[in-house]
Amino acid sequence: MDAGRAPVMAVANGIGEVERKVQKSYWEEHSKDLTVESMMLDSRAADLDKEERPEILSLLPSYKGKSVLELGAGIGRFTGDLAKEAGHVLALDFIESVIKKNESINGHNKNITFMCADVTSPDLKIEDNSFDLIFSNWLLVYLSDEEVEKLVAKMVKWLKVGGHIFFRESCFHQSGDSKRKVNPTHYREPRFYTKVILQALCFQSISTSRVECCLQYTFQRYLS
Ligand SMILES: C[S@@+](CC[C@H](N)C(=O)[O-])C[C@H]1O[C@@H](n2cnc3c(N)ncnc32)[C@H](O)[C@@H]1O
Repeated sequence: MDAGRAPVMAVANGIGEVERKVQKSYWEEHSKDLTVESMMLDSRAADLDKEERPEILSLLPSYKGKSVLELGAGIGRFTGDLAKEAGHVLALDFIESVIKKNESINGHNKNITFMCADVTSPDLKIEDNSFDLIFSNWLLVYLSDEEVEKLVAKMVKWLKVGGHIFFRESCFHQSGDSKRKVNPTHYREPRFYTKVILQALCFQSISTSRVECCLQYTFQRYLS
């Protein structure tokens, strides 16, 4: 063992653990109500959802009969819609009450599997080349830069050849109006995500024609 490296590793793991604890307790706090308002952290969620959900769904590539992985699925704002077209949806969230609520709303669709898991967990077992579409809406902002890099690299591996990654994130500043005691959300510049995706594709020697990515940023909606 390289004794000189141990303290550095310990510090790095410590930072990762703190990030996980902070983000988990943030979502435990904000998911108590299990409502669309809590999922979108906005008192105007019902109205926003009516406009935004069809808009986002319209941007997705065709997933008719295909396998879809939905990360940070929440109470299922998108899960039911995805299941209407998809062959199969694996919906995942790290708050148990949230994914159970999703199951209570959407569980009548027998093509959905619900999973309680943290997307950053090294124990998350998802097979390589197993999904046609990986979808997330407002998830990566709750991961550190390093966690985003690792997750995106994994997403690329989980995709089948010709698959698509779609993620949508808030950038620059807070958008929803809900009161927050603390806010550990990472509001980044869009170029961070572009860089991470390009790095993951280059590192894995996969050309952009093999994996298509759609990065959707929400900052425009909230700029006056
Ligand atoms: C802003 S909500 C969005 C929910 C849903 N995608 C939507 O648009 O309605 C973020 C969701 O991501 C989940 N989440 C945050 N970090 C996660 C992680 N590391 N692993 C799994 N789920 C996570 C939260 O529990 C929450 O349900």
